[in-house]
Amino acid sequence: MAEVSAMRDRKILLGVAGGVAAFKAAYLARRLIEAGAQVSVVMTKGATKFVGEQTFRAITRRPVITDLFGAELVSPHTELAAWCDAIVVAPATANLISKVANGQSGDALSATILATDRPVILAPAMHTEMWEQPSTVRNIDMLTMDGRIIVGPVSGPLAGGDSGAGRMVEPEEIMRTIAGLFPETMAGVRLLVTAGGTREAIDPVRYIGNRSSGKMGYAIASEAADRGADVVLITAASLPVPPSVRVVQVESAEEMAEATWGMAESIDVAIMAAAVADFRPVDPAETKLARTDGPPEIVLEETPNVLRGLVERAGDPVKVVGFAAETGSIERAFHKAATYGVDLLVANDVSEQGSGFGTETNRVTFITPDGDAEPLPQMSKAEVASHLMDRVEALLREAADGNLPS
Ligand code: CTP
Repeated sequence: MAEVSAMRDRKILLGVAGGVAAFKAAYLARRLIEAGAQVSVVMTKGATKFVGEQTFRAITRRPVITDLFGAELVSPHTELAAWCDAIVVAPATANLISKVANGQSGDALSATILATDRPVILAPAMHTEMWEQPSTVRNIDMLTMDGRIIVGPVSGPLAGGDSGAGRMVEPEEIMRTIAGLFPETMAGVRLLVTAGGTREAIDPVRYIGNRSSGKMGYAIASEAADRGADVVLITAASLPVPPSVRVVQVESAEEMAEATWGMAESIDVAIMAAAVADFRPVDPAETKLARTDGPPEIVLEETPNVLRGLVERAGDPVKVVGFAAETGSIERAFHKAATYGVDLLVANDVSEQGSGFGTETNRVTFITPDGDAEPLPQMSKAEVASHLMDRVEALLREAADGNLPS
């Protein structure tokens, strides 16, 4: 089902206001969790009269916020507003709609909405008279102008025993609206990512390695999977596997080369984010080298170049992104971009603070083979991954446009 992959790993803040339809919000929370989303619930005081917060806590396995001054988070509205990818309010009562339309923030839910820059979906539920009041009509118009997404209401039986406009749409309809926020722009794209620092054996215990943590490659794999790509991660690191990503665990440059080259003909995109050793011991010892034997002399030889081998094996349509870890200046990266046969090179200065190995952030420059450079400010590795996937999508679109019959 399309919503399942669109929702995977998304952070959804579910706001529940005080209406009878609040019971349907519990089902919505469960459907979101089943679809792989992370769900945090914020309830108004009124909502707790209809459904117990314990219900949502059990479904989401997360604390439920009902009070701006609760003990769970120091500043729940700002923390949740920054945490989530989208806010969904179901049911949205006339009162809550009025508060949001007018920028009020007197309770945890309206304050969170006021504090966020993420998309907000509201699913109104109220009696027909309330829905048709000029004040409600005005508020809905204002919300729409503000870019809020209104889903429903529909006509049908209402809580008072009557029937008419004002009934909340069914959770499945809300699910579809949420999924629409996260279009699967890379659906059907087969994407390979290499990640981590390889280890080249000296003996069964020791190796030559490097400081790469693998975080950048994992962030790329995660972002591509979120966009619906079919992702294989060939990794020498051992971090938690992002959802829906297939992992091939390797250790040395040789193993990474074999795994990568074996897929050269069954991928559309390769992102070479691994820090591959350039040299390895010629003849690793079969047993542990003993200190008592004195300092060993380790003779090195070149490792296979995973990137170059892939470019040779992959057909022209395969888009290849290389990385260049430089120290001091990224000047050398321009030469790499022009000569490595890549479609794009991601350069960073790993000696700079907050950029490169082991850090949570990175400051990269995208360089094309023609030497066009797009320097990005320092940002989280997840954000770098998002910018990179935008560039990869553009490369794929260009290629597809080029193949259109003229
Ligand atoms: N790479 C590779 N196999 C190697 C070495 C590097 O696939 N044996 C890839 C890296 O994954 C990266 C790109 O080549 O995508 C550039 O790596 P980098 O270490 O920056 O440069 P090198 O080509 O090794 O050149 P130098 O050591 O001179 O900087």
